[in-house]
Amino acid sequence: MGGTQSEHKLILEDGRTRYDGRALDELRPVSIQAGVLRRADGSAYVEWGQNKVLAAVYGPREVHPRHLQNPARAIVQARYNMASFSVGERKRPGPDRRSQEISKIISEAFTSVVFVEQFPRTTVDVYMEVLQADAGTRCAGLTAASVALADAGVPMRDIVPAVASGKVEDVVVCDLNKDEDTCGQADVPCAILPRTGEFLLLQMDGHLTYDELMRAIEYNRRAAKVINELQKEALRKKYSIVTLQNNEITEQPPQEQPPQEQLEKAADAPVASNPPEGGA
Ligand code: CDP
Repeated sequence: MGGTQSEHKLILEDGRTRYDGRALDELRPVSIQAGVLRRADGSAYVEWGQNKVLAAVYGPREVHPRHLQNPARAIVQARYNMASFSVGERKRPGPDRRSQEISKIISEAFTSVVFVEQFPRTTVDVYMEVLQADAGTRCAGLTAASVALADAGVPMRDIVPAVASGKVEDVVVCDLNKDEDTCGQADVPCAILPRTGEFLLLQMDGHLTYDELMRAIEYNRRAAKVINELQKEALRKKYSIVTLQNNEITEQPPQEQPPQEQLEKAADAPVASNPPEGGA
């Protein structure tokens, strides 16, 4: 929410269409892939509009340093990082206040969804790397990380989608892009548990009336359902390939084993690599 003035109108004259052609309640194109990294226990890659985010999960595993261990449950340590080349102006590498805040809220969101009591004294480490940023990266990161957690087989209550709606030129719109985020009036990122409708994350930057906030939340609710289907589809796709490969292996006809007698006879017979001349 930079409050910067846009060079063009972000909401077109009809009041229903946005500068990028989307309807007010429309998401950007989203694609999700599960299991993209060989060395991670679980991983995912998300392209969301111009955002590109990679997530990797390790654990539950031993906690270092040990004093962070919780004897009653696992801790979830999320780390959100923006690559230097992910934004227009080179970002200084390393953690800053913004990435620390995002890491903290995502850690808290996942702590309440993972069955942490099942893994005392361990850590579940969640890494999110933003390769290209175009607004909504905390939501894209959380969405990717949730698929990576499921891919790692970490037991949790649900797969969590996240999305940010907001206000642009006095109109509430779903899933802000970079222009809308920079020149808009408000931004409301949410992570919503699909099964119960519980909110695991709700932030608000800017000013909204009560009705506008309710509309932004409603847009997020609807969009979260769409994102959640894509998350599940990504996991189904990965695991159906594995099943198919297994089926192919089991469906192959078993190799015929020569009976033991024939093997013994064959062992006694002289080795003839060429048929005898003149034929039989
Ligand atoms: O990405 P998200 O909307 O979750 O977080 P934000 O703090 O509202 O940032 C909005 C956008 O500003 C990011 O997605 C980036 O495109 C951009 N940004 C940037 O250009 N340089 C930074 N150091 C941080 C953010």
